Amino acid sequence: MAKSTTADPRLDLIYRPRRLRSNAVLRDMVRETALGPEDFIYPMFLCEGRKVRHEVASMPGVFRQSVDMALKEMEEALATGVRSVIFFGIPDAKDPLGKEAYAPKGIVQRGVAAAKKAFGADLLVVTDVCLCEYTDHGHCAPVRGGEVLNDAGVLLHCRTALSHAAAGADVVAPSDMMDGRVGAIRESLDEAGFQNVPIMAYSAKYASAFYGPFRDAADSTPQFGDRKSYQMDPANAEEALREVALDIEEGADIIMVKPALPYLDVIRRVKDAFQVPVAAYNVSGEYAMVKAASRLGWLDHDRAMMESLTAIKRAGASIILTYFAKDAARLLRRG
Ligand code: PBG
Repeated sequence: MAKSTTADPRLDLIYRPRRLRSNAVLRDMVRETALGPEDFIYPMFLCEGRKVRHEVASMPGVFRQSVDMALKEMEEALATGVRSVIFFGIPDAKDPLGKEAYAPKGIVQRGVAAAKKAFGADLLVVTDVCLCEYTDHGHCAPVRGGEVLNDAGVLLHCRTALSHAAAGADVVAPSDMMDGRVGAIRESLDEAGFQNVPIMAYSAKYASAFYGPFRDAADSTPQFGDRKSYQMDPANAEEALREVALDIEEGADIIMVKPALPYLDVIRRVKDAFQVPVAAYNVSGEYAMVKAASRLGWLDHDRAMMESLTAIKRAGASIILTYFAKDAARLLRRG
């Protein structure tokens, strides 16, 4: 390094952390966290029909689309280096029991089959296992007299997971937060011969305002009440450890914290406490905030995106579910 002619002899410093920040090669060399396109799972919303592609108003760049159009986007994602997607289904018809969630020819089941046929092992297809996009009341389990029924929900989530695995899903991801669903799904999958299909459990899923844009996209806002009787209180972190411990005991292979940015402390605590891969969901509201502020000229989109994703990885998540997947992967490729 060049000798400084401006050092003040009165400042007799041994440690100058700025030394390691003085040029780009050094900064690259000492960087502790590296993002890669292989870290990302790209969420996609599948709907009925052909040639359908509607942009979600509160999520620029994210579409509700029919399977034919979604396949094109998967190809695009693969071209950027993203190798995994997670599917959410938007059925034409909803009912109290969310029947389309576990219909053998439901929207997600057909999407999975088409994606596996088109891309085989090149694309890891994860499915979100939940009823809220399929029930007319918008809750994640059947409802009776205003109560969200845990055990009835678990049975239907087992059927859903099974139908996804039968369609060819590589990983199933229960997001309903009913008690005992991971163990029950594991048992159902095993009984049916799907011992090798991993479960990525939404273990610490908070009752969050940041799901707002997703509910626009998936049309899954609860028609009465809220999800506070099953999703977690944002004030709790110890409870997250308990939830994660239970899911691991029940057979979860990967556990997830969701949302990501407001819960980096939870990601870190989970990472330190357990020896399983940790995923984090950079949710719709986190995406929408960056999009909105950058549209207003208040934030630099790409820098805010990369900083967010890097922070999530630094906190301890090795897997990041993010609507930014393609954009971030493209930037990473360009370097
Ligand atoms: C379904 C589900 C939700 C999300 C993922 N799976 C919505 C919810 O719980 O209301 C949210 C994802 C996002 O906001 O990006 N239960």
